[in-house]
Amino acid sequence: MLIRRIKCLRYLGTRHNSSHYVTTPIFYVNAAPHIGHLYSAVIADAHCRYQRLRNPEKEVRLCTGTDEHGTKIQQAAALHGIPVAKYCDDISERYREVFRSASIQPEDFIRTTEERHKRAVAHFWRTLHTRGHIYSAAYSGWYCVSDETFLTDSQLRLDESTGSRYSLESGHPVEWTEETNYMFRLSQFQDDVRHWVKQEARIRPAKFEKILLDTLSEPLPDVSVSRPSNRVHWAIPVPDDDTQTVYVWLDALVNYLSSVGYPNEGYSAHWPPAQQVIGKDILKFHGIYWPAFLLAAGLEPPGQLYVHSHWTVDGQKMSKSKHNVVDPVQAARQYTMEGLRYFLLREGVAHSDGNYSHVKAQRILNSELADTLGNLLSRACAKSLNPGQIYPSANAEHLADLLQSLDAAKRLQDALLQLSERCASHYECNHFHLVADTAMAALHAANNFFESSKPWLLKAGAPEGNQPRLETIIAMTMDALRLCGIVLQPIIPQLATRLLDKLSVPTAQRGWNYLAESFATASPANLGGSRQLDGPTSALLFQRILEEKSVKEKEEEQKPQPAKRSKSKKKERRETMS
Ligand code: ME8
Ligand code: MG
Repeated sequence: MLIRRIKCLRYLGTRHNSSHYVTTPIFYVNAAPHIGHLYSAVIADAHCRYQRLRNPEKEVRLCTGTDEHGTKIQQAAALHGIPVAKYCDDISERYREVFRSASIQPEDFIRTTEERHKRAVAHFWRTLHTRGHIYSAAYSGWYCVSDETFLTDSQLRLDESTGSRYSLESGHPVEWTEETNYMFRLSQFQDDVRHWVKQEARIRPAKFEKILLDTLSEPLPDVSVSRPSNRVHWAIPVPDDDTQTVYVWLDALVNYLSSVGYPNEGYSAHWPPAQQVIGKDILKFHGIYWPAFLLAAGLEPPGQLYVHSHWTVDGQKMSKSKHNVVDPVQAARQYTMEGLRYFLLREGVAHSDGNYSHVKAQRILNSELADTLGNLLSRACAKSLNPGQIYPSANAEHLADLLQSLDAAKRLQDALLQLSERCASHYECNHFHLVADTAMAALHAANNFFESSKPWLLKAGAPEGNQPRLETIIAMTMDALRLCGIVLQPIIPQLATRLLDKLSVPTAQRGWNYLAESFATASPANLGGSRQLDGPTSALLFQRILEEKSVKEKEEEQKPQPAKRSKSKKKERRETMS
């Protein structure tokens, strides 16, 4: 475990440019965004937010966007009876909107229909051509439009009853295609790509490195990198040959270069990307074609491919035909976008598929964000215990006494002392679920401490009233909330901000180094004495998610039915924590 952690960390030290460039796949505009697309973007965004939090000096650059060329897009637009360009604008905007509402903050959102991208692709093509890596040849094979790739016999399944063939991996139909194409000499890069793949922490999680090495153990065939323009016209023309258009995957992969200004001077400040986040479905393109294209063009391949598995829904693959595609906008109506972000990063692990279910999302969000985090904030800010509405400072004597006499106080101290190092090492490996785990464990310790120290017995006016001790308990609890708020910023940026705002933590004191300042290290950040809490901000951080039935009732509420409205409002109030 320790060795693995060290290996994960070592990779970051080997980079040599000043910028930390991170990318997501660019998403096809043939359909609206779903939680799988959002997941890739949330991983990349949380990774970047952590990098910025950890090292504010570092230039961190996130790029996401949409992939808009090819037969698949042509067909989707035709199906909707909309001109292709307009269709692309609409769906691309939906991606932008979903990402914006999920607090994904890219430095760039690129579209492959933009001029800057077309220029980059043309330059990239010419470079490959000039260097002798592209040649013209007659080509035939089984083509899968949906996957935008030719497949070999071993990658096909034959349906005996109909005689139709399907992609084994994706299940989509293929068609026999014969055409003259430009071919890329992939076969010549087999050894170079293998060498690149085998570098330390190049492909993460490691299981995907194995998959690539398996593929690389067979001879790589050359790959077709153009299509006849009369078949695929919604594409970038091949430079100096208008009978051909550039293969969508070559076009799409170059987006990572276009975004940083390639081929103009200055792009190399960001090149190569430190980390490229992708789903397992596009591993071959990013783990084999992409490094080969780059090496052929004389460019450095990426520092790391971070590959994540897929979300299934109630155990099934998400697909339009099964009508089980989860729309993030709709899910956010139930859980809020912050809730959805938390769920995806809390429940998803990169190495195996995750299952999305309402019951699970509701259970996790209610127990962790509402009860463990939100409820503790409400209790620490309750007017009855904290009438002056302050973030007090701990009293040294009472602090020492509590740490000595109360196991729960000691356990909280231990949890907070380990928080920074543990969470940092989990973040370095994109193990967001372990960051959440660690923060929740600290918050459990804080809840236990609060419960065991019985602050309500110390209230001013109570028989054993003891204000300095009461304030020390509140200070310790608020320290725990503040530290967990700092740690959770990359995962739930808005909620963490609200938590830190409520605790009146100055913006300049929300960086990673402030994790070292708390009662746990005997260096309270609020050494200067009590801090006034900002009055109007509510201490209600995360509203409990109602039962499925109540959500339906809530929808009913939207309809103009006054009688029903007041009834479910009452119910909602009952279920809401105060
Ligand atoms: O492949 N679970 O675009 P795409 C998790 N345009 N993630 C999922 C997912 C699921 N069920 N389904 C999709 C393309 N994804 C190309 C990429 S890049 C140069 C070109 C995510 O719209 C995952 O990241 O089909 C996957 O790789 C990506 O969406 C595919 O999106
Ligand atoms: Mg796809």
